[in-house]
Amino acid sequence: MTIFEPGRPLQGDYLPPPDKSISHRAALFGAMADEPVVVRNYLDSRDTRSTLETLLKLGAAVDEETGGSLLLRGVGLHAPLEATGGLLDVGNSGTLMRLLPGWLAGQPGGVWTLDGDESIRRRPVDRIAEPLRALGARVEATEGRLPPFTVHGAELEGIAYELPVPSAQVKSCVLLAGMLAAGSTTVVERSQSRDHTERLLRRARVPFERDGLRSTVSQVDELELEEIVVPGDPSSAAFIVAAATLVQGSRVVVRDVGLNWTRTGFFRIAQRMGAVILGDLEEPNTTSGDEPVGELDVASAPLEGTEVTPDEVPLAIDELTLVALLAAFADGETVVRGAGELRFKESNRIVAVVERLRALGAEIEETADGFAVCGDGAPLPGGTIDSRGDHRLAMLGAVAGLASTGGVEVVGMDAAAVSYPGFERDLRALLR
Ligand code: S3P
Repeated sequence: MTIFEPGRPLQGDYLPPPDKSISHRAALFGAMADEPVVVRNYLDSRDTRSTLETLLKLGAAVDEETGGSLLLRGVGLHAPLEATGGLLDVGNSGTLMRLLPGWLAGQPGGVWTLDGDESIRRRPVDRIAEPLRALGARVEATEGRLPPFTVHGAELEGIAYELPVPSAQVKSCVLLAGMLAAGSTTVVERSQSRDHTERLLRRARVPFERDGLRSTVSQVDELELEEIVVPGDPSSAAFIVAAATLVQGSRVVVRDVGLNWTRTGFFRIAQRMGAVILGDLEEPNTTSGDEPVGELDVASAPLEGTEVTPDEVPLAIDELTLVALLAAFADGETVVRGAGELRFKESNRIVAVVERLRALGAEIEETADGFAVCGDGAPLPGGTIDSRGDHRLAMLGAVAGLASTGGVEVVGMDAAAVSYPGFERDLRALLR
């Protein structure tokens, strides 16, 4: 149990950890390349370690260099994989579970079973099973929809696929398989989700086109890639930004944070609530690899309720629990709609955040596709939060504690190591 007490503002410079989403993809692209790929600023976390360990089993080699850089020696896109079968453990990583089968599905003769922890076993894979079958692969899910998930690689044929759920993971899975499928493969989204895979496809000189919400990839023989630079993770930084917003007297400058607009929905929602987040949000002026990066200057401010619309949801999907937290300290009502996908995250995050914030004194209700929070602008009293293994809920508990009047005890703080092993150290280092 870890206790987070109020009383001290956050002040100073803050460098977020490397982006988790981009790190997973960088490792996968490195493994799919023929020539060695350097990945700079690779995230060292439980989830991204699962990715490296899985890629090693598939025959890739990883030299860990100093200062967070990796040198990946891949097996090539079509290479006969050294290990053409077996059990692959994705741990807690939904991204690995959904992206990797896209590549495996295009390896004729290979059979792999992907499995993971208790949380992964509750998260649906039918969303990738459907397009992979349409592409020509044979796949089997437990009870038709859950891991363990078996992929039989095959000769694939390109498809046009409309995503039934707003999910960058499913989009990416289809695009990866599309590189191995005859002809071209098109994925259509209903609203824009994170586009890191698309940026990497371009960087790897894969024939790729984007037209509004349609992405088309064509079959390719190899990736042309030398280096990928991973920016700071806006989803991890969001916890520090939320703390600096809520704890009076705070002022934090966030450096080198990824500001790809498909990831910065939370910052825009927070600004609408009254948060003072100044900087390069609209026009990031630096790029690191192919991703926009910049600086944010955050100061504490009183907040007001807001409405979050379905289109905004994919742009802030991992930060919606933090929107609930801000809302609990804000004046007025906040409603989040179109966020049913939260039920399929590391935990059912609608139920989890409603239960947890209510226990800390918030007035919050579950709805079919989100939640509604009513605040009067006063801080929450505090109490106890159990992360039950969900990294983002552990970190939310810590922020809630600093902003509360009575402090918060977080049970299961170690879950933060899934995405952000240094979270507690970084947070406490800012307290003055
Ligand atoms: C991710 C996409 C999102 C997000 C997850 C990471 C990715 O999931 O919640 O943490 O890296 O593509 P969905 O695509 O299922 O919404």
